[in-house]
Amino acid sequence: MSEASTLTLCKKSDVEEDEGYKVDTEGLSLAVFHVEGEFFVMDDLCSHGPGSLSQGYLDGYNIECDFHAGCFDIRTGEVTAPPCMIPMKTYKVVDHPEDVIIEWPES
Ligand code: FES
Repeated sequence: MSEASTLTLCKKSDVEEDEGYKVDTEGLSLAVFHVEGEFFVMDDLCSHGPGSLSQGYLDGYNIECDFHAGCFDIRTGEVTAPPCMIPMKTYKVVDHPEDVIIEWPES
């Protein structure tokens, strides 16, 4: 089993509180969210269709896709409102004072 390495996505200061921020890197398209000093990362492409979750509406820990208004919990990727049915992939964020870093690839 290989040990997970890390991937730096952006500066924490790039991500406005209660807004989504899109990062394309290493073939991944990711949505970064900032809520009350904590950062959360999930795949950007909605599991229901072409919606970009970084462009959605964030309310607390709930992100509403701007395409058909389906919702997910940004902490777990779980569906919180239809028409979405498939959970989103989330990434573990590594503690760092300035940068948003995820564990990647996951082992
Ligand atoms: S594409 Fe996101 S809810 Fe349909």
